[in-house]
Amino acid sequence: MSKIAVIGTGYVGLTTSIGLASLGHKVIGYDLDPAKVEMLQAGQLPIHEPGLGEILTAGIESGNLQITSVLSEAVSEADFVFTCVPTPQDEDGSADLSYVISASAAMKEFLKPGAVVVTKSTVPVGSARVVEDAIGRSDVEVASNPEFLREGAAVHDFNHPDRIVVGARSTEVAQKVMDLYSKIDCPKILTSQATAELIKYASNSFLAIKLSYVNDIAALCEAVGADSQEVLHGMGLDTRIGNRFLEPGPGWGGSCFPKDAKALESIASNFGVGLPLITSAIASNEAAHKRVADRVTDALGGSLSGKTIAVLGLTFKANTDDTRESPAIAVIEHLVRGGAKVVAYDPMVTKYELAGLSLADSAVAAASGADALVVLTEWPVFRTVDSAEILQAMTGNVVVDTRRVLDQAKWQAAGAVFPNSSSRAV
Ligand SMILES: NC(=O)c1ccc[n+]([C@@H]2O[C@H](COP(=O)([O-])OP(=O)(O)OC[C@H]3O[C@@H](n4cnc5c(N)ncnc54)[C@H](O)[C@@H]3O)[C@@H](O)[C@H]2O)c1
Repeated sequence: MSKIAVIGTGYVGLTTSIGLASLGHKVIGYDLDPAKVEMLQAGQLPIHEPGLGEILTAGIESGNLQITSVLSEAVSEADFVFTCVPTPQDEDGSADLSYVISASAAMKEFLKPGAVVVTKSTVPVGSARVVEDAIGRSDVEVASNPEFLREGAAVHDFNHPDRIVVGARSTEVAQKVMDLYSKIDCPKILTSQATAELIKYASNSFLAIKLSYVNDIAALCEAVGADSQEVLHGMGLDTRIGNRFLEPGPGWGGSCFPKDAKALESIASNFGVGLPLITSAIASNEAAHKRVADRVTDALGGSLSGKTIAVLGLTFKANTDDTRESPAIAVIEHLVRGGAKVVAYDPMVTKYELAGLSLADSAVAAASGADALVVLTEWPVFRTVDSAEILQAMTGNVVVDTRRVLDQAKWQAAGAVFPNSSSRAV
């Protein structure tokens, strides 16, 4: 079993720390944020991630997992140091490496000879060299081990990944990192640093393109009166296409797809390669957000001025508390720009600062006095809200369900009107 330090205990770092401890390694997680460290030391999760709390407690109790706010304590004994810090989008769309560089520079004096620094943050091609330069030690190796977890299913994805990718200058170093996952049974790829870095961006951008295509096809279904669910089901039965990731919605978002698609565009342009599909997917996604707002506007007679819109869901998808780059927020911004007042309910969000948006503590409270109701996140709990009670609380009866979570027939029977929703073709 190895001694491991994990730098950054956010969605990825925390899952990595706790996951590696559950495999039997001795792990010390480190974060700059003292409030986060304090919570974790007390066995509390600072994020919502199903199943993670239980293994956090198990990790601490077994003695395999510690959390510290002292960098030297985390790093000085470690054989491997995983970097899981943010790589946000820079103003020009490229990935901002400043967190990765400062974390690498800060740890260099504490690393023991022979340590391997493993980048888990999503970083552009060539970043391994940047990390090597920031560390500046010939007795330390640098590897790339991109993370593919999905928020909301992070624990499952740690234990049952579709693949694990490790890139390093030498196969020997890559294999040493891969051996940390010896208890996990899945396809394992040992490769170069650049290939590992690109596998991550190419995968996320492909998924973004797929979702944009799905949303465009759903819009076409609506225009021609075809049933988008049946069309997408029929497509997904083709094994070359596959039936996953074929759900239409209000657009894609989250902390990864938008920034990773932009970053790949930027990487390609630096190398003189055009990636027009990604550019189109980004434009299609922005159109998807606006399409939802337009549908609400049209259903309310062409103007949102003075209207109140109830929104169900703010997170970028269900089973997370993450609102970063959420399509729900993008749609709400359109609604507010159009003159509406928005009242939203989300089971995991109690605070969000946006002019024109206020939060309610239940679906019924959000619906009170609303002219229209818009579902923007596929929280399972929305399936069971009482349609009659909600419609009674509303002033209007327009319902736009971008995630198809509501039982449309039941809602229609209770008096709801679903504008423009794609209907079964006749
Ligand atoms: N969130 C995801 O679903 C996901 C999936 C795959 C890959 N990634 C990638 O993983 C990386 C981390 O993403 P995240 O969502 O976990 O971010 P996050 O914002 O949730 O967590 C980052 C953590 O790093 C800490 N931090 C920042 N600088 C630090 C430093 N110098 N030393 C110690 N701690 C520091 C922050 O306080 C924070 O707790 C990003 O590159 C992201 O693109 C994220």
